[in-house]
Amino acid sequence: MAQAAQSIDPAASAEQPSAVVLGGVTKRFSNGTTAIADLDLAVRQGEFLSLLGPSGCGKSTVLRLVAGLIEPSAGTIRRPDEQNADRDIGFVFQEPTLMPWASAFTNVWLPLRLRGVSKRAARDRVMEALDGVGLAAFAGSYPRELSGGMKMRVSIARALVTEPRLLLLDEPFAALDEITRFRLNNDLLELWGRFGFTVVFVTHSVFESVYLSSRIAVMAARPGRIIRTLTVDEPYPRTDAFRTTPHYGELCNETSAALLLAMEEGRPA
Ligand SMILES: Nc1ncnc2c1ncn2[C@@H]1O[C@H](COP(=O)(O)OP(=O)(O)O)[C@@H](O)[C@H]1O
Ligand SMILES: [Mg+2]
Repeated sequence: MAQAAQSIDPAASAEQPSAVVLGGVTKRFSNGTTAIADLDLAVRQGEFLSLLGPSGCGKSTVLRLVAGLIEPSAGTIRRPDEQNADRDIGFVFQEPTLMPWASAFTNVWLPLRLRGVSKRAARDRVMEALDGVGLAAFAGSYPRELSGGMKMRVSIARALVTEPRLLLLDEPFAALDEITRFRLNNDLLELWGRFGFTVVFVTHSVFESVYLSSRIAVMAARPGRIIRTLTVDEPYPRTDAFRTTPHYGELCNETSAALLLAMEEGRPA
């Protein structure tokens, strides 16, 4: 992780073409729940977008729709520049979801293996991905031998081993202690700065969303929708020093206010 992240100006990403466009997307589950309704969202290429909202507002549903894991009931989801969209997405779940009987190496190899890449042919890419999350020395370790933070690192390496253009993360650090979460925040930003993929990051933490994102879409529930989008006008690379600045405090206040409003609007009638 020695390589420095490139400097990125969040405001400049407004001119970027779209990586994913959701148009009037509604998702109704078979039990009658409308998880999201008529949602419009354009994710720009190379941006770090967070979906922030209370539990149940449809964040995971949006991510699963973008990943193609579920189909919308109405509306469209487009990836304008991708030929083979499903090959091009990395997904990180809240639980690291590693195979407990397999080493870190074998876990990271999995997406390549599913594409028919042999262990030998995958070796360099798997080791590079593990190195990218600081775990090259743990390639032979089993999940039970790794801490929660390390398991999440393996999960991120597994998502990145196919070099996706789009990385989707669903509350990946919610179960970790604060110090580990801060470290993983920095490492994720470093990887993003180095490789330039697009990120859609789901969180219910105001502080985390402000620290990481170039843009935050605030969602309300019942039905799930975006009530406000905020630009985080702080350049990258960002370091822990950002967390102690008045600007960070102001951005967190503004974002909290939007989240409170979202919670008001999403209250059961
Ligand atoms: N497979 C499903 N079947 C029925 N209802 C679901 C399903 N998945 C999610 N929901 C409902 O859709 C709404 C949004 O859920 P979800 O996207 O998981 O929200 P979030 O990730 O913001 O907590 C919730 O009311 C949830 O109970
Ligand atoms: Mg969720």
